[in-house]
Amino acid sequence: MASTRNDTFDNFDKRDGMTPGQVADVFTNAAGTYDKVWTIRNYKDHLYVAEGVADYFQEDRRASVKILDVAAGTGMLAEQLWKKGFRQLDGLDPSPGMMAEAMKKGVYTNYYLEFMDGHTITELDTDTYDCLVVAAGFNIGLLPSAALPEMVRLVKPGGVMCFGIPDARFTEVKEYINRLEPLMQWMEQDGAWQLLDKKHFEDFYDDANPGLVFRYIVRASDIDGKQYIEKLCHTH
Ligand SMILES: C[S@@+](CC[C@H](N)C(=O)[O-])C[C@H]1O[C@@H](n2cnc3c(N)ncnc32)[C@H](O)[C@@H]1O
Repeated sequence: MASTRNDTFDNFDKRDGMTPGQVADVFTNAAGTYDKVWTIRNYKDHLYVAEGVADYFQEDRRASVKILDVAAGTGMLAEQLWKKGFRQLDGLDPSPGMMAEAMKKGVYTNYYLEFMDGHTITELDTDTYDCLVVAAGFNIGLLPSAALPEMVRLVKPGGVMCFGIPDARFTEVKEYINRLEPLMQWMEQDGAWQLLDKKHFEDFYDDANPGLVFRYIVRASDIDGKQYIEKLCHTH
């Protein structure tokens, strides 16, 4: 139990070198205490993302906006969205333990036990969602850069993606260094999406850890994810 807590909560570096399945297991083993630990640590990424989404969709529209919560975990973000009047929420996460905790909250319609890692999730049709959100999904051993094009595929043109990323991830996580930001820009240059805005917050967790909440408008549905993955292969 103690080592599980270290791996997920206190020492993200320990996930470096784990297989994706091992990372999902780590979360499954810690799922029962996840919300408590992060509430104590004054976790706020999900609050900022929920605010970004609510700011985009007027109150009278919210109940019918279809949202996919990627790296959904125990549903801390979905709970916030529910409180703001959103009702069409699906989750996606590879950890059965996190899913079990999430489903207790009764906020998700569907919860897909899947990795978002660049492969095409055939269960989900192109242009299914009006909105896609991620909180605390970009970190060591979690979403790879290559996940972005597949996320864009799932959102309708004109839909919005809103996700939080602590500043340090761009410079400290090997998977993202010189990859995540360039990919975000390539996708914009190619017309896949367009930056609406990025807002900076000083305290994603532990009353520290500043980060950005990005909002992108999706412009295309025909995303050639493979070309981006090939391009990324040449960046390490
Ligand atoms: C730090 S938790 C964040 C949970 C939730 N979004 C929140 O705000 O509390 C990260 C989650 O990412 C999931 N995860 C890890 N790799 C993933 C992948 N490739 N695709 C989707 N989810 C992944 C883990 O199982 C875990 O539940």
